[in-house]
Amino acid sequence: MRKVYRKLVFLFIFFILCVFFFHIKWPIKLFSLANSQNSVTHEHRRAIMKSFCEQNNLTNSFFVLNKKVAAQLYVEHSHKFIYCEVPKVGCSNWKRIILLLNESLGLTVNKLEKYDVHLSPFLIKFSSYPPSIQTQLLASYTKVMVTRHPLERVVSAYRDKFLHKNNPYYSTTIANIIKRRVRKNKNFTENITFEEFARYIVLQNPQYADTHWKPMYLLCDPCKIHYDIIGKLETIKQDADFVLKAIGAPKNLSYTNKKFHSNEARTNDQIGRHYLETLPPSLFRQLMKVYSVDFTMFEYINTLNPMLSNK
Ligand SMILES: *[C@@H]1O[C@H](CO)[C@@H](O)[C@H](O)[C@H]1NC(C)=O
Ligand SMILES: *[C@@H]1O[C@H](CO)[C@@H](O)[C@H](O)[C@H]1NC(C)=O
Ligand SMILES: *[C@@H]1O[C@H](CO)[C@@H](O)[C@H](O)[C@H]1NC(C)=O
Ligand SMILES: *[C@@H]1O[C@H](CO)[C@@H](O)[C@H](O)[C@H]1NC(C)=O
Ligand SMILES: *[C@@H]1O[C@H](CO)[C@@H](O)[C@H](O)[C@H]1NC(C)=O
Repeated sequence: MRKVYRKLVFLFIFFILCVFFFHIKWPIKLFSLANSQNSVTHEHRRAIMKSFCEQNNLTNSFFVLNKKVAAQLYVEHSHKFIYCEVPKVGCSNWKRIILLLNESLGLTVNKLEKYDVHLSPFLIKFSSYPPSIQTQLLASYTKVMVTRHPLERVVSAYRDKFLHKNNPYYSTTIANIIKRRVRKNKNFTENITFEEFARYIVLQNPQYADTHWKPMYLLCDPCKIHYDIIGKLETIKQDADFVLKAIGAPKNLSYTNKKFHSNEARTNDQIGRHYLETLPPSLFRQLMKVYSVDFTMFEYINTLNPMLSNK
Protein backbone atom coordinates (compact mmCIF):
# COMPACT_ATOMS: atom_id res chain seq x y z
CA MET A 1 0.00 0.00 0.00
CA ARG A 2 2.76 2.45 0.92
CA LYS A 3 4.54 1.69 -2.34
CA VAL A 4 1.46 2.47 -4.39
CA TYR A 5 1.06 5.69 -2.47
CA ARG A 6 4.67 6.65 -3.14
CA LYS A 7 4.23 5.90 -6.81
CA LEU A 8 1.20 8.13 -6.94
CA VAL A 9 3.06 10.98 -5.29
CA PHE A 10 5.90 10.52 -7.75
CA LEU A 11 3.54 10.55 -10.69
CA PHE A 12 1.85 13.66 -9.38
CA ILE A 13 5.16 15.51 -9.03
CA PHE A 14 6.15 14.38 -12.51
CA PHE A 15 2.85 15.70 -13.87
CA ILE A 16 3.31 19.09 -12.16
CA LEU A 17 6.84 19.34 -13.60
CA CYS A 18 5.53 18.52 -17.07
CA VAL A 19 2.90 21.23 -16.80
CA PHE A 20 5.54 23.63 -15.55
CA PHE A 21 7.95 23.00 -18.43
CA PHE A 22 5.31 22.90 -21.13
CA HIS A 23 3.11 25.59 -19.66
CA ILE A 24 3.03 27.47 -22.98
CA LYS A 25 0.78 24.74 -24.36
CA TRP A 26 -1.96 25.31 -21.79
CA PRO A 27 -3.10 28.84 -22.51
CA ILE A 28 -3.38 27.93 -26.23
CA LYS A 29 -5.85 25.17 -25.41
CA LEU A 30 -7.80 27.33 -23.00
CA PHE A 31 -7.92 30.13 -25.51
CA SER A 32 -9.27 28.06 -28.37
CA LEU A 33 -11.93 26.67 -26.06
CA ALA A 34 -12.97 30.18 -25.10
CA ASN A 35 -13.39 31.03 -28.78
CA SER A 36 -16.53 28.97 -29.01
CA GLN A 37 -18.24 31.23 -26.50
CA ASN A 38 -18.44 34.64 -28.11
CA SER A 39 -19.24 36.99 -25.28
CA VAL A 40 -16.93 35.17 -22.86
CA THR A 41 -14.13 35.60 -25.42
CA HIS A 42 -14.79 39.30 -25.78
CA GLU A 43 -14.96 39.86 -22.03
CA HIS A 44 -11.66 38.01 -21.73
CA ARG A 45 -9.95 40.06 -24.45
CA ARG A 46 -11.05 43.31 -22.83
CA ALA A 47 -9.88 42.16 -19.40
CA ILE A 48 -6.42 41.26 -20.73
CA MET A 49 -6.10 44.67 -22.34
CA LYS A 50 -7.30 46.52 -19.27
CA SER A 51 -4.86 44.79 -16.95
CA PHE A 52 -1.99 45.33 -19.40
CA CYS A 53 -2.78 49.07 -19.55
CA GLU A 54 -2.99 49.32 -15.78
CA GLN A 55 0.19 47.38 -15.12
CA ASN A 56 2.13 49.60 -17.50
CA ASN A 57 0.57 52.85 -16.28
CA LEU A 58 -0.87 53.54 -19.71
CA THR A 59 -4.37 54.39 -18.50
CA ASN A 60 -4.47 58.16 -18.18
CA SER A 61 -7.23 59.71 -16.16
CA PHE A 62 -7.23 62.92 -18.20
CA PHE A 63 -8.40 62.59 -21.75
CA VAL A 64 -6.16 63.82 -24.52
CA LEU A 65 -6.56 61.82 -27.68
CA ASN A 66 -3.60 61.84 -30.01
CA LYS A 67 -4.49 63.46 -33.37
CA LYS A 68 -3.07 60.50 -35.25
CA VAL A 69 -5.29 58.12 -33.30
CA ALA A 70 -8.35 60.29 -33.92
CA ALA A 71 -7.55 60.10 -37.64
CA GLN A 72 -7.90 56.29 -37.57
CA LEU A 73 -11.49 56.41 -36.30
CA TYR A 74 -14.68 56.40 -38.36
CA VAL A 75 -18.17 57.16 -37.09
CA GLU A 76 -21.51 55.70 -38.15
CA HIS A 77 -24.30 57.59 -36.41
CA SER A 78 -27.40 55.57 -37.22
CA HIS A 79 -25.98 52.55 -35.35
CA LYS A 80 -23.79 54.48 -32.92
CA PHE A 81 -20.73 52.71 -34.21
CA ILE A 82 -17.08 53.80 -34.08
CA TYR A 83 -14.49 51.77 -35.96
CA CYS A 84 -10.72 52.08 -35.63
CA GLU A 85 -9.01 51.41 -38.92
CA VAL A 86 -6.03 49.04 -38.78
CA PRO A 87 -4.62 48.72 -42.31
CA LYS A 88 -3.94 45.13 -43.46
CA VAL A 89 -6.68 43.83 -41.18
CA GLY A 90 -9.71 43.88 -43.47
CA CYS A 91 -10.35 47.61 -43.15
CA SER A 92 -11.91 48.02 -46.62
CA ASN A 93 -14.52 45.44 -45.65
CA TRP A 94 -15.40 47.44 -42.53
CA LYS A 95 -15.56 50.69 -44.46
CA ARG A 96 -17.96 49.02 -46.87
CA ILE A 97 -20.13 48.00 -43.91
CA ILE A 98 -20.11 51.54 -42.52
CA LEU A 99 -21.35 52.85 -45.88
CA LEU A 100 -24.06 50.17 -46.10
CA LEU A 101 -25.25 50.97 -42.57
CA ASN A 102 -26.14 54.53 -43.57
CA GLU A 103 -29.40 53.81 -45.37
CA SER A 104 -29.88 57.37 -46.56
CA LEU A 105 -26.93 56.84 -48.90
CA GLY A 106 -28.94 54.14 -50.71
CA LEU A 107 -25.86 52.03 -51.40
CA THR A 108 -25.96 48.29 -52.10
CA VAL A 109 -23.35 45.55 -52.06
CA ASN A 110 -23.39 45.54 -55.87
CA LYS A 111 -22.90 49.29 -56.17
CA LEU A 112 -19.88 49.06 -53.87
CA GLU A 113 -18.36 46.19 -55.84
CA LYS A 114 -16.24 48.39 -58.11
CA TYR A 115 -15.84 51.30 -55.74
CA ASP A 116 -12.69 52.27 -53.84
CA VAL A 117 -14.17 52.70 -50.36
CA HIS A 118 -10.99 54.39 -49.11
CA LEU A 119 -11.81 57.36 -51.33
CA SER A 120 -15.43 57.62 -50.28
CA PRO A 121 -16.54 61.16 -49.28
CA PHE A 122 -19.35 59.60 -47.23
CA LEU A 123 -17.18 58.09 -44.51
CA ILE A 124 -17.37 60.30 -41.45
CA LYS A 125 -14.05 60.90 -39.71
CA PHE A 126 -14.04 61.12 -35.95
CA SER A 127 -11.34 63.79 -36.21
CA SER A 128 -13.85 66.12 -37.87
CA TYR A 129 -15.52 66.70 -34.48
CA PRO A 130 -14.37 69.09 -31.75
CA PRO A 131 -12.96 67.47 -28.56
CA SER A 132 -16.16 67.96 -26.52
CA ILE A 133 -18.24 66.05 -29.10
CA GLN A 134 -15.50 63.42 -29.44
CA THR A 135 -15.72 62.72 -25.72
CA GLN A 136 -19.51 62.33 -25.95
CA LEU A 137 -19.26 59.99 -28.94
CA LEU A 138 -16.68 57.80 -27.22
CA ALA A 139 -18.84 57.60 -24.11
CA SER A 140 -22.02 56.47 -25.87
CA TYR A 141 -21.05 54.64 -29.10
CA THR A 142 -19.97 51.03 -29.65
CA LYS A 143 -16.23 51.15 -30.29
CA VAL A 144 -14.58 48.38 -32.27
CA MET A 145 -11.07 47.52 -33.40
CA VAL A 146 -9.86 44.40 -35.20
CA THR A 147 -6.40 42.90 -34.81
CA ARG A 148 -4.26 40.32 -36.58
CA HIS A 149 -1.09 38.38 -35.81
CA PRO A 150 1.48 41.22 -35.73
CA LEU A 151 4.12 39.56 -37.91
CA GLU A 152 1.61 38.17 -40.38
CA ARG A 153 0.42 41.76 -40.77
CA VAL A 154 4.01 42.87 -41.51
CA VAL A 155 4.38 40.17 -44.17
CA SER A 156 1.03 41.15 -45.63
CA ALA A 157 2.14 44.81 -45.80
CA TYR A 158 5.37 43.78 -47.53
CA ARG A 159 3.63 41.64 -50.15
CA ASP A 160 0.93 44.19 -50.80
CA LYS A 161 3.07 47.33 -50.95
CA PHE A 162 6.39 46.17 -52.37
CA LEU A 163 5.65 43.19 -54.58
CA HIS A 164 3.03 45.09 -56.58
CA LYS A 165 3.61 48.04 -58.84
CA ASN A 166 0.10 49.50 -58.68
CA ASN A 167 0.98 51.90 -55.88
CA PRO A 168 4.14 53.86 -56.84
CA TYR A 169 4.14 55.72 -53.52
CA TYR A 170 5.26 52.47 -51.87
CA SER A 171 6.85 50.50 -54.70
CA THR A 172 9.03 53.48 -55.71
CA THR A 173 9.13 56.34 -53.18
CA ILE A 174 9.12 54.37 -49.94
CA ALA A 175 11.13 51.54 -51.53
CA ASN A 176 13.88 54.03 -52.40
CA ILE A 177 13.88 55.46 -48.87
CA ILE A 178 14.29 51.92 -47.52
CA LYS A 179 17.09 51.11 -49.98
CA ARG A 180 18.96 54.29 -49.07
CA ARG A 181 18.63 53.46 -45.39
CA VAL A 182 19.51 49.76 -45.31
CA ARG A 183 20.98 48.54 -48.61
CA LYS A 184 24.70 47.84 -48.38
CA ASN A 185 25.64 47.60 -52.07
CA LYS A 186 24.15 50.72 -53.53
CA ASN A 187 22.54 48.92 -56.48
CA PHE A 188 19.00 50.29 -56.52
CA THR A 189 17.66 48.18 -59.40
CA GLU A 190 16.64 45.19 -57.34
CA ASN A 191 13.34 45.12 -55.42
CA ILE A 192 13.51 45.42 -51.66
CA THR A 193 13.65 42.08 -49.91
CA PHE A 194 11.63 41.16 -46.85
CA GLU A 195 14.85 41.24 -44.83
CA GLU A 196 15.54 44.83 -45.92
CA PHE A 197 11.97 45.77 -45.03
CA ALA A 198 12.40 44.22 -41.56
CA ARG A 199 15.72 46.07 -41.07
CA TYR A 200 14.01 49.33 -41.93
CA ILE A 201 11.15 48.66 -39.47
CA VAL A 202 13.49 47.99 -36.55
CA LEU A 203 15.46 51.18 -37.28
CA GLN A 204 12.34 53.34 -37.30
CA ASN A 205 10.62 54.93 -34.34
CA PRO A 206 7.33 52.99 -34.31
CA GLN A 207 5.43 56.18 -33.45
CA TYR A 208 6.27 57.54 -36.90
CA ALA A 209 5.90 54.32 -38.83
CA ASP A 210 3.56 54.07 -41.80
CA THR A 211 0.05 53.01 -40.75
CA HIS A 212 0.41 49.73 -42.66
CA TRP A 213 3.11 48.51 -40.29
CA LYS A 214 2.72 50.77 -37.27
CA PRO A 215 2.01 48.63 -34.18
CA MET A 216 -1.74 48.21 -33.69
CA TYR A 217 -1.76 49.52 -30.13
CA LEU A 218 -0.25 52.80 -31.33
CA LEU A 219 -2.78 53.13 -34.14
CA CYS A 220 -5.87 52.68 -31.97
CA ASP A 221 -4.61 53.43 -28.43
CA PRO A 222 -6.79 50.90 -26.56
CA CYS A 223 -5.58 52.20 -23.18
CA LYS A 224 -7.34 55.54 -23.81
CA ILE A 225 -10.22 54.35 -25.96
CA HIS A 226 -12.00 51.56 -24.13
CA TYR A 227 -13.03 49.42 -27.06
CA ASP A 228 -16.23 47.49 -26.50
CA ILE A 229 -15.22 44.78 -28.93
CA ILE A 230 -11.79 43.59 -30.05
CA GLY A 231 -12.19 41.48 -33.15
CA LYS A 232 -9.49 39.27 -34.59
CA LEU A 233 -8.93 38.51 -38.24
CA GLU A 234 -8.24 34.91 -37.22
CA THR A 235 -11.85 34.54 -36.02
CA ILE A 236 -13.38 37.26 -38.16
CA LYS A 237 -16.57 35.44 -39.15
CA GLN A 238 -17.77 35.04 -35.54
CA ASP A 239 -16.33 38.38 -34.45
CA ALA A 240 -17.93 40.36 -37.29
CA ASP A 241 -21.30 38.70 -36.59
CA PHE A 242 -20.89 39.64 -32.95
CA VAL A 243 -20.20 43.28 -33.88
CA LEU A 244 -23.10 43.50 -36.33
CA LYS A 245 -25.45 42.07 -33.75
CA ALA A 246 -24.17 44.39 -31.03
CA ILE A 247 -24.82 47.52 -33.11
CA GLY A 248 -28.18 46.26 -34.36
CA ALA A 249 -27.25 46.06 -38.03
CA PRO A 250 -29.94 44.83 -40.48
CA LYS A 251 -30.08 41.03 -40.64
CA ASN A 252 -29.26 40.95 -44.35
CA LEU A 253 -25.96 42.80 -43.86
CA SER A 254 -22.98 40.54 -43.51
CA TYR A 255 -19.22 40.87 -43.44
CA THR A 256 -17.55 39.62 -46.60
CA ASN A 257 -13.90 38.89 -46.37
CA LYS A 258 -12.79 40.38 -49.67
CA LYS A 259 -9.23 40.76 -50.81
CA PHE A 260 -7.81 43.49 -53.06
CA HIS A 261 -5.46 41.28 -55.09
CA SER A 262 -8.14 38.64 -55.34
CA ASN A 263 -6.17 36.28 -57.60
CA GLU A 264 -3.47 35.80 -54.96
CA ALA A 265 -3.36 33.74 -51.77
CA ARG A 266 -4.03 35.74 -48.63
CA THR A 267 -1.05 36.04 -46.30
CA ASN A 268 -1.55 33.19 -43.87
CA ASP A 269 0.46 31.35 -41.31
CA GLN A 270 2.38 29.35 -43.90
CA ILE A 271 3.20 32.28 -46.20
CA GLY A 272 4.13 34.35 -43.15
CA ARG A 273 6.55 31.72 -41.98
CA HIS A 274 8.12 31.48 -45.45
CA TYR A 275 9.11 35.17 -45.30
CA LEU A 276 10.05 35.21 -41.62
CA GLU A 277 12.42 32.30 -42.15
CA THR A 278 14.53 34.51 -44.43
CA LEU A 279 15.44 36.72 -41.45
CA PRO A 280 18.62 36.17 -39.41
CA PRO A 281 17.68 35.21 -35.80
CA SER A 282 18.90 38.50 -34.30
CA LEU A 283 16.85 40.57 -36.73
CA PHE A 284 13.84 38.35 -36.08
CA ARG A 285 14.16 39.03 -32.36
CA GLN A 286 14.41 42.78 -32.93
CA LEU A 287 11.30 42.66 -35.10
CA MET A 288 9.46 40.74 -32.38
CA LYS A 289 10.44 43.47 -29.92
CA VAL A 290 8.88 46.20 -32.08
CA TYR A 291 5.56 44.37 -31.86
CA SER A 292 5.89 42.98 -28.34
CA VAL A 293 3.08 45.13 -26.93
CA ASP A 294 0.77 43.97 -29.73
CA PHE A 295 1.71 40.37 -28.96
CA THR A 296 0.89 40.72 -25.27
CA MET A 297 -2.05 43.05 -25.38
CA PHE A 298 -3.93 41.19 -28.10
CA GLU A 299 -2.74 37.75 -26.98
CA TYR A 300 -0.95 36.50 -30.03
CA ILE A 301 1.01 33.42 -29.37
CA ASN A 302 4.12 33.37 -31.46
CA THR A 303 3.08 30.71 -33.95
CA LEU A 304 5.21 32.24 -36.69
CA ASN A 305 8.50 31.97 -34.87
CA PRO A 306 10.70 30.01 -37.28
CA MET A 307 13.10 29.15 -34.45
CA LEU A 308 10.32 27.42 -32.54
CA SER A 309 8.62 25.74 -35.46
CA ASN A 310 9.39 22.06 -35.62
CA LYS A 311 9.71 21.24 -39.27
C1 LIG B 1 3.35 52.43 -12.33
O1 LIG B 1 3.14 53.42 -11.35
C2 LIG B 1 3.34 52.95 -10.01
C3 LIG B 1 2.96 54.02 -9.04
O2 LIG B 1 3.25 55.30 -9.54
C4 LIG B 1 4.80 52.50 -9.87
O3 LIG B 1 5.02 51.99 -8.57
C5 LIG B 1 5.12 51.41 -10.89
O4 LIG B 1 6.48 51.05 -10.84
C6 LIG B 1 4.78 51.89 -12.30
N1 LIG B 1 4.92 50.77 -13.23
C7 LIG B 1 5.54 50.88 -14.41
C8 LIG B 1 5.61 49.64 -15.23
O5 LIG B 1 6.03 51.92 -14.81
C1 LIG C 1 -25.23 59.38 -43.93
O1 LIG C 1 -24.26 59.94 -44.77
C2 LIG C 1 -24.44 61.32 -45.06
C3 LIG C 1 -23.35 61.73 -46.04
O2 LIG C 1 -22.06 61.48 -45.50
C4 LIG C 1 -24.36 62.13 -43.78
O3 LIG C 1 -24.60 63.49 -44.05
C5 LIG C 1 -25.40 61.61 -42.80
O4 LIG C 1 -25.25 62.29 -41.56
C6 LIG C 1 -25.22 60.11 -42.60
N1 LIG C 1 -26.28 59.63 -41.75
C7 LIG C 1 -26.03 59.04 -40.61
C8 LIG C 1 -27.22 58.63 -39.81
O5 LIG C 1 -24.89 58.82 -40.22
C1 LIG D 1 10.34 43.49 -58.82
O1 LIG D 1 9.00 43.13 -58.51
C2 LIG D 1 8.13 43.22 -59.63
C3 LIG D 1 6.72 42.97 -59.14
O2 LIG D 1 6.62 41.79 -58.42
C4 LIG D 1 8.55 42.25 -60.69
O3 LIG D 1 7.68 42.37 -61.82
C5 LIG D 1 9.97 42.58 -61.12
O4 LIG D 1 10.43 41.61 -62.03
C6 LIG D 1 10.90 42.61 -59.90
N1 LIG D 1 12.19 43.12 -60.30
C7 LIG D 1 13.33 42.52 -59.97
C8 LIG D 1 14.57 43.17 -60.48
O5 LIG D 1 13.35 41.48 -59.32
C1 LIG E 1 22.47 45.74 -60.22
O1 LIG E 1 21.68 44.55 -60.11
C2 LIG E 1 21.16 44.10 -61.37
C3 LIG E 1 20.21 42.93 -61.09
O2 LIG E 1 20.78 41.97 -60.27
C4 LIG E 1 22.31 43.72 -62.28
O3 LIG E 1 21.81 43.29 -63.53
C5 LIG E 1 23.19 44.95 -62.48
O4 LIG E 1 24.33 44.59 -63.22
C6 LIG E 1 23.63 45.53 -61.13
N1 LIG E 1 24.29 46.81 -61.36
C7 LIG E 1 25.47 47.11 -60.80
C8 LIG E 1 25.99 48.48 -61.08
O5 LIG E 1 26.09 46.33 -60.09
C1 LIG F 1 -31.36 44.77 -46.78
O1 LIG F 1 -32.76 44.86 -46.95
C2 LIG F 1 -33.25 46.19 -47.11
C3 LIG F 1 -34.77 46.18 -47.13
O2 LIG F 1 -35.24 45.01 -47.68
C4 LIG F 1 -32.64 46.78 -48.41
O3 LIG F 1 -33.09 48.12 -48.60
C5 LIG F 1 -31.11 46.76 -48.28
O4 LIG F 1 -30.53 47.22 -49.49
C6 LIG F 1 -30.62 45.37 -47.97
N1 LIG F 1 -29.20 45.47 -47.68
C7 LIG F 1 -28.29 44.65 -48.16
C8 LIG F 1 -26.89 44.88 -47.73
O5 LIG F 1 -28.57 43.75 -48.94
